[in-house]
Amino acid sequence: TPRVGLIGWRGMVGSVLMDRMEAEGDFDHIEPVFFSTSNAGGKAPNGDQPLADAYDLDALKSCEGIITCQGGDYTSEIYQKLRETGWNGHWIDAASTLRMSNDALIVLDPVNRPQIDDAIAAGNRNWVGGNCTVSCMLMGVGALYKAGLVEWMSTQTYQAASGGGAKHMRELLTQYGTLNAEVRDLLDDPKSAILEIDRKVLARQQAMLGTDESAQFGAVLGGSLIPWIDKDLGNGMSKEEWKGMAETNKILGLGPDALGGSNEPAIPVDGFCIRIGAMRCHSQALTFKLNGDVPVDEIEAMIAEDNPWAKVVPNEKEASMRDLTPVAVTGTLNIPVGRIRKLAMGPEYVGAFTVGDQLLWGAAEPLRRILRILIE
Ligand code: HSE
Repeated sequence: TPRVGLIGWRGMVGSVLMDRMEAEGDFDHIEPVFFSTSNAGGKAPNGDQPLADAYDLDALKSCEGIITCQGGDYTSEIYQKLRETGWNGHWIDAASTLRMSNDALIVLDPVNRPQIDDAIAAGNRNWVGGNCTVSCMLMGVGALYKAGLVEWMSTQTYQAASGGGAKHMRELLTQYGTLNAEVRDLLDDPKSAILEIDRKVLARQQAMLGTDESAQFGAVLGGSLIPWIDKDLGNGMSKEEWKGMAETNKILGLGPDALGGSNEPAIPVDGFCIRIGAMRCHSQALTFKLNGDVPVDEIEAMIAEDNPWAKVVPNEKEASMRDLTPVAVTGTLNIPVGRIRKLAMGPEYVGAFTVGDQLLWGAAEPLRRILRILIE
């Protein structure tokens, strides 16, 4: 049984990962070693063994594989030092730090199992989960890419608070609560004036700016939105937007960033990434330019057959409102794809809308699946 070190298992992504590993019986196939960055010697979740020190290179070296959800700072601090000791184990990481490096594969096996198998054969040792938005998108519409149908894609995202972290989710809910409290008396009175309610809400939102009430997001999200996610790259793009094209192509094995390089040109992917007041599901409105006039029913069939989690939602009001929302998807591995229709620009232009739980397919699930693939 391979010894597998688990780091960052107590955080939000780590906790979702633990639940999924438990549910799928992954712990029957490994000898888990629980590490801690802050509480070495404390009690591990698997009983009597004390928590190992996540900064102890010898303890890390004793593992054949390591899965970390501890975050990018930990990866930056430890990964290189551990490799420099000569450790040749599998490093499985949720953080983006190593994602684009040319000795790491971005793992999303229902989409890129061929690249994973090639990388295993080539002795690859670094396996990194993709950006949540990219992974959820490819789980939904990867079929169109695999079939070579996509000339380009534009995405407009509606990203949940959880993408920022647990504190961001709390901040969003606290803002909602504060705003509700501000106008509760007026809401209770059906005859009160809606524009007065609106004025009071706006005044309270504006009062949140620059205070602790909006410290996590740096802007008010409750009752508003934030049209920027992650760093400003200085070229008009956010880092989240840049990841869309870079990671999509790397996952698909296209373009110069593909592991081992590829002569296949990268497919243009671009658009805007927006934070909205959802809890943990990222949604995206997609516009495709296909390289042909593919009928909608063929597109739907390809998506439905691609993997067990992608679900085509009929492009009708009732089904969309029922099945194509964060509320419908949260806590499930389903990736519904709906609103599929030809757009007014021409027969090669197709629109779609997709939703995914960014903590499941967007973070934890690809990691536990590559672990299972590696120990098969
Ligand atoms: N960057 C993503 C977000 C989260 O902020 O929504 C993880 O990839």
